[in-house]
Amino acid sequence: MSSQTLKDARQYEEKIGKAVPETDRPLFHLSSYSGWMNDPNGFSYYKGEYHLFYQYFPYDNRWGPMHWAHATTKDFLNWKYQPAALAPDTRPDADGCFSGSAIELDDGSHLLFYTGVNVTDKYQVYVQQQCVAIKDKDGEEYVKYEGNPVLTSKDLPEGYSRYDFRDPKIFRQKDGLFAAVMCACKDKDGRIAYYTSKDGFDWQFKGILAENNGRFGTIWECPDFFELDGKHVLICSPMNMRKTRTKYNSGNGTMCLIGEFDEENTKLIEEVDQPIDGGIDFYAPTTMLTPDGRRVMVAWMQNWETIVYGSKDQFPWFGMMTTPRELHVIDNHLCQTPVRELNNLRRNKVEYKDISVSDWMSLEGVNGRIIDMTVNVRPHETEDYKHFELRFAQGEDMFVSVRYRRSDGFVTVDRRYSGIRNAVINQRKMKVKDTDGFIKLRVILDRFSAEVFINDGEQVISTTFYTPQSANGISFSSDGVAVMDVEKYDLSFD
Ligand code: FRU
Repeated sequence: MSSQTLKDARQYEEKIGKAVPETDRPLFHLSSYSGWMNDPNGFSYYKGEYHLFYQYFPYDNRWGPMHWAHATTKDFLNWKYQPAALAPDTRPDADGCFSGSAIELDDGSHLLFYTGVNVTDKYQVYVQQQCVAIKDKDGEEYVKYEGNPVLTSKDLPEGYSRYDFRDPKIFRQKDGLFAAVMCACKDKDGRIAYYTSKDGFDWQFKGILAENNGRFGTIWECPDFFELDGKHVLICSPMNMRKTRTKYNSGNGTMCLIGEFDEENTKLIEEVDQPIDGGIDFYAPTTMLTPDGRRVMVAWMQNWETIVYGSKDQFPWFGMMTTPRELHVIDNHLCQTPVRELNNLRRNKVEYKDISVSDWMSLEGVNGRIIDMTVNVRPHETEDYKHFELRFAQGEDMFVSVRYRRSDGFVTVDRRYSGIRNAVINQRKMKVKDTDGFIKLRVILDRFSAEVFINDGEQVISTTFYTPQSANGISFSSDGVAVMDVEKYDLSFD
């Protein structure tokens, strides 16, 4: 039996979400059905489909008491909205069902592991506890466990905060036990707590997997931990980052630590750290393992620091997810490429080879707002170039640009001229590997966003923009002579 709060949310989303014309949404990026979306949650494979839930407030384009929305897909691109899965309607989650994860149990049921928050304590601050909800093999609804919460601050070591204890990510260890990593905090500093369980309900504290010690922001939200290509990877979203020269931006960032897992001591032996996406809109990435063995990541293609609430006037939804991305660790570096299923949407190939670029130019047939385009740039044999720039979503006086500057190896994404009226962060820079003027940019556009995969996914920058769809031009320039090959496809399900 679902509660009135959940019924209300479902009724509301059905009314609002259903009425949104398809062309008012991205084609293949999951956008909020109605109202607000933040973190992806419960990314999992269950009963022949991929499931993705998300932080959801259906009633407004702003964050509010968190529900879990629900969508399913067979190919990571063609999403089907399902009725909202969780609402804040029990005592431990009376003020919100915060982020979490999902897994299939041995009996064929689907378990959601999430953070319940309530402000019942005297300080009126969110107390955070971990809860579970379960859908039976043949059930229709995610039913909250009567024994919730299954983890409280009593399950943390001495001195840990009860207000920053959230975002459990469940997975299976090699020995078959369930394990979960979650955000924890001591002395206002981020820690990753590690728990194990035989059944997903009864959890035991194992240890602290990693400690920030003031290095990367403060609290590490939404952790994920997995083995990939022989290494162990911890992903998290640190709050309050400090800008560094070449790696990190200020505000809410994302990061991965790559190293070895010392299982006996439940410690990640760190080797390298890396930002995950250097663009404007990216936060709270989370992963799943597909049945064919791929580690696929999806993130909120938005960031707390760059929210443009104004879009409510345009659409009754706010927030979208990135294209799901396949991950690899190559030479201790996390690489990302769009899921291979995206290739099935490619239509109308347009190809150019050895085009010399100096002054602004465009190419016949190279335009559009739902495209997959790869631009391979190199210096001219006899002349050189210092900057290469690519503009898209280009109309009369509007465009979004990606610039590569050889002198310092920075790629800049710039949406100042996308028609945006908000003075939020509209430019971001990311340093790329020195490749002597050779750079490969794969640009995925889907009406309101761009994801640029640099040098086969060594680095990625993602941004949203709400430029009118009629602005669909693409142009290129360099200040010397660069040579490029361009391969462009429209993306479509038809
Ligand atoms: C990250 C986050 C999570 C929390 C959720 C609340 O974006 O702050 O830590 O669970 O959002 O919506």
